Amino acid sequence: MRLENNLDKILIIDFGSQFTQLIARKVRELNVFCEIISHNKLKDYKNEKNVKGIILSGGPLNVYQNKKVKFNKSILSSNIPILGICFGHQIISKELGGKVKRAKSREFGLAKVSKLKKSALTENFFSKKSTNVWMSHGDEVIKLPKGFKVIAKSSNSKLCMIENIKKKIYGIQFHPEVSHTVKGKVILKNFVIKICKIKKNWTSKNQKSKLMQQIKEQVGNSKVICALSGGVDSSVVAKLISNAIGKNLTCIFVNTGLLRKNEEKQVVNTFRKKFKLNLIYINAEQLFISKLKNVIDPEKKRKIIGNLFIKLFEKYAKKIKNVKFLAQGTLYPDLIESKSVTGSQTSKIKSHHNVGGLPKRMKLKLVEPLKYLFKDEVRMLGLELNLSKEIISRHPFPGPGLAIRMPGIITKEKIKILKEADNYFVNALREHNLYHKIWQAYAALLPVKTVGVMGDNRTYEYLCLLRAITSEDGMTADYFQFNKSFMQMVSNKIVNNIRGINRVVYDVTSKPPSTIELE
Ligand code: XMP
Repeated sequence: MRLENNLDKILIIDFGSQFTQLIARKVRELNVFCEIISHNKLKDYKNEKNVKGIILSGGPLNVYQNKKVKFNKSILSSNIPILGICFGHQIISKELGGKVKRAKSREFGLAKVSKLKKSALTENFFSKKSTNVWMSHGDEVIKLPKGFKVIAKSSNSKLCMIENIKKKIYGIQFHPEVSHTVKGKVILKNFVIKICKIKKNWTSKNQKSKLMQQIKEQVGNSKVICALSGGVDSSVVAKLISNAIGKNLTCIFVNTGLLRKNEEKQVVNTFRKKFKLNLIYINAEQLFISKLKNVIDPEKKRKIIGNLFIKLFEKYAKKIKNVKFLAQGTLYPDLIESKSVTGSQTSKIKSHHNVGGLPKRMKLKLVEPLKYLFKDEVRMLGLELNLSKEIISRHPFPGPGLAIRMPGIITKEKIKILKEADNYFVNALREHNLYHKIWQAYAALLPVKTVGVMGDNRTYEYLCLLRAITSEDGMTADYFQFNKSFMQMVSNKIVNNIRGINRVVYDVTSKPPSTIELE
């Protein structure tokens, strides 16, 4: 999907690298607008006036896999500055008369790059004659394309950085977008600002009034509904639209009974009492519990919850007259279709519960004011809209809620125990200033009871599992390393205060091979 935007921009052509979104975020940090487009959507690419520079991403393919690599060669003669990164560097070289070969030794991780020649791209990049960069490649350029000169080499890659000043085309083998490349930002800045000479036209700071204006223009006097979950994205959408159109917005909040402790109270307090939004609160705790009775299969749980949510939303939305629009917190990463060029990520692991199915069923038009923004930009916007830090920086929470943190059957008693355990864990993270160092953390209740001893008595109670991970985007994750005293304190608090749990374990698997949620 291409975005409609008349701003001057950098176009990022994605060849399936796991870092493409990082390139985009780094460019946006320079206050420059950019857009990602998949390499296989480029067939009909025509020069666009407002594209001031093009970055070709890395990717898992080999440049000679002609059937899989769709690259519109005409881009290279468009007279727009181009920077090729890793695979991008190799495809430029191949297309312009150079040669690429499987490298004798693959380079993964840190490498030293040494300067051979002065270049606008590397101003302030080298400390003395070299610098550390991060590499991830199996192929390398072995013959320079015509008209190019070498700027720098690494021990495994003689043609590590190359340029053709006349054509304004640059190629680099390493990844400037990852934080391990010490001065990677300098390369992107030199390319975007000095070489492309693009105006700094983007800041998520002044987005508020611009987006409000766009919402007003799109919906006019029509009514809009919005499914509010209390998470960051839907909260920002709701507040932004309500600022723009006031009472023509109605939010619908479904209490599934599977939320975190006191979450429903916080949502009602914030949006109905503090911000005075039209908010329909549906208490469907009993309904969800009864529909989930005796259901064990994770996919069945997800389907039941997703369908019931949609049914309830539809039922209550129909009561509001003349609704024409449905607001959604779609973010820019949700729109990027080219997450994988190899297709591996498309295999279904879990059916995600979201409100994506609603617009078709309800024949409503969509309002998606956040569709240009990354998560961190949405958070900044939220702060500008006076949403509390607590809402803005909350860990992600899945649509099916606690149901997928409770393998096995779901009962009221288990939900109550789990809400308490989760609350103790998350509060302890906040008190010890760990909450913001962690991408997502939660407690889960496992469907086994084990024997313990408390006082002089035998106990036979549930097992509580704690999970805390670090991640960039939820696609991969690593477990967070707590120190012993913190773990001990949390474990004691949970076991001493919650009847029903007598043992606590910590999940030390990464994703992959595990996933972040248990089901
Ligand atoms: P997994 O478990 O797939 O989770 O590693 C990755 C991220 O997605 C969240 N998640 C969901 N979010 N609806 C959502 O809105 C869902 O059905 C859903 N399932 C998982 C999960 O919390 C993690 O942040």
